[in-house]
Amino acid sequence: MEEWSATTIQAFRQTLLAWYDRAGRDLPWRRDHDPYHVWVSEVMLQQTQVNTVIPYYQRFMAAFPTVDDLAQAAEPDLLKAWQGLGYYSRARNLQKAARQIVTDYQGKWPQTAAGLSDLSGVGPYTACAIASIAFGQVVPAVDGNAFRVFSRLLLIDADIAQPKTRQLFTDIIQPIVDPDRPGAFNQAIMDLGSSYMTAKNSDPEHSPVRAFDASLRENRVADFPVKTKAPRPKLMPYYGLIIQSPAGVLMVQRTHQEMLTGYWTYPLVRQDDLRDAEATTKATLATDLATLTDRWATEYQLPLDLKPVGGPAVSHTYTHQRWRVKLLVATLKTVPSLTFYPGEWVPVADIAQRPLPKVQEKMMKRWAEAQATATE
Ligand code: ADE
Repeated sequence: MEEWSATTIQAFRQTLLAWYDRAGRDLPWRRDHDPYHVWVSEVMLQQTQVNTVIPYYQRFMAAFPTVDDLAQAAEPDLLKAWQGLGYYSRARNLQKAARQIVTDYQGKWPQTAAGLSDLSGVGPYTACAIASIAFGQVVPAVDGNAFRVFSRLLLIDADIAQPKTRQLFTDIIQPIVDPDRPGAFNQAIMDLGSSYMTAKNSDPEHSPVRAFDASLRENRVADFPVKTKAPRPKLMPYYGLIIQSPAGVLMVQRTHQEMLTGYWTYPLVRQDDLRDAEATTKATLATDLATLTDRWATEYQLPLDLKPVGGPAVSHTYTHQRWRVKLLVATLKTVPSLTFYPGEWVPVADIAQRPLPKVQEKMMKRWAEAQATATE
């Protein structure tokens, strides 16, 4: 690993911030240092790219201009505003934290990373980003950009997939952060990490800090950061049930025991739940259909004549799960009661007003395509 002298650190800060002042990105959440603006943008940016976040951020601020507005927002409005951003628990945590600010803190923000960490959904990175950008606390904000940039500059070969590595980077970067402009310093590192020093390398030869880049000097840019591979997301086969009656399509709101809580989907049935793990005969579409039909008739008093929808299954990948949803359709001539099933008949024209996760949008698209093919 490289060691930087006090002089080198000074020169690095100066070079970095001069570049940031000249070429830093003009982003909507950088117009001021309001902690509410910084916080919402940082949460949106946690797993989502800047270009995707910009329109969401603008719509979110129009809908919920202050932390009070967010604290009081109706849940469907909140989920609708987040629809398409993914990692939906972020939206729920955001509102929880807004309520903490309003009620526990009487609207006064904690001004340090340690204090901010007590807010729902605010991890060490986000706490340090807000503390440095909104309140000027001299702390490094260690996200994927910081891992990449500093591992290359300083040849840090610790495995960034290991949770303890964050602290190591924090300790190494702490003395380098510009004490006069910590927020600008951290955001300059983010901009470097998404321009000259990207995962695919981009253009480190022309980076404003190339003179400080040990990986470039040693021709080892691609070796950093060191990251062991995460296990592949687990394959989760589902059936997606499109059940139509004269009153609309059967939709169900996901519960707190599930991912995508609060969002609406067609009924989704895990294929594994239809099968006996000890079974000696192989499950097929036909055996699954028989089990499913039987179960819905007895458990929910909903007799269904399910048919597979033509075309490929819908695929959607989350961090730890890869969903593959085979669509099945049943059309009912009358409107059965939903006494035993926790869903609603939603008129087709009203579906889009509900908060819908991406996988639901994909299912609807697939279904529309299958119908178009069938009538050609
Ligand atoms: N990524 C995470 N936080 C960011 C910020 N404030 N600006 C640009 N990219 C970011």
